[in-house]
Amino acid sequence: MRRRIVAGNWKMNGSKDLVQQLVGDIREHVADLDEAVKSTLDVVIIPPALYVDSVIGCCGDALATGVQNVSQWQSGAYTGEISSGMALDLGCQYVLVGHSERRQLFAESDEVIARKVTRVLESGLTAILCVGETLEEREAGQAESIVASQVRQGLSTVSSDQWSRVVVAYEPVWAIGTGKTATAEDAQAMHAEIRGVLEQMNAPSRNISVLYGGSVKADNAAALFAEPDIDGGLIGGASLKADEFVSICRSFPVGA
Ligand code: PGA
Repeated sequence: MRRRIVAGNWKMNGSKDLVQQLVGDIREHVADLDEAVKSTLDVVIIPPALYVDSVIGCCGDALATGVQNVSQWQSGAYTGEISSGMALDLGCQYVLVGHSERRQLFAESDEVIARKVTRVLESGLTAILCVGETLEEREAGQAESIVASQVRQGLSTVSSDQWSRVVVAYEPVWAIGTGKTATAEDAQAMHAEIRGVLEQMNAPSRNISVLYGGSVKADNAAALFAEPDIDGGLIGGASLKADEFVSICRSFPVGA
């Protein structure tokens, strides 16, 4: 059975004080979740890399942690970069790769993204590959082909024993930070499409978690998570508010 995951991507937000307060609150609320929910759900905090150590200090084993980006190289003279091995060394479990802000603002190509996925999987961590179309691409009827190509290229080097550490996050670019969410039906359709592409790649598609991201909030999470191919969410803005984030963690259908 695939895992449910709710991951909070803090982006370039936060401070030492915020870590103490927010992670402390989230940890407390997550401890109160129903045992049945807790046993199937990974709650992941993905702060700026400089705060990973303090986040881990605050959350202990209750929450998982990740970084928002790693280098395409293993180590060496790459000033300003951090490696996947370093994220592992600090105690992270997850790495976001190919977030649309990295693709758009830092010109990350599918080739670079595939190299990063390779580094993450080599180091033993789980890669959350982010994919998603822009509004122009959607309006031009290209959403499915763009997303399929991002999945194929981003995961082109994954070997059969590594699929258990691959997660895909479908984040339509037009829904990120805009307050616009894909309807649950549209998101479900794209998730089913992604699972189909994984199947064609000979991946164990039924065991791979596919998350939805893009303006997920406490009041729309339940409709999204009720869909059969949506296994959780990648949460930006709402991950910076403990109540909101934990309500999202409580939004999975009961008994499913
Ligand atoms: P948002 O961001 O929830 O603020 O739309 C999601 C993301 O960028 O991962």
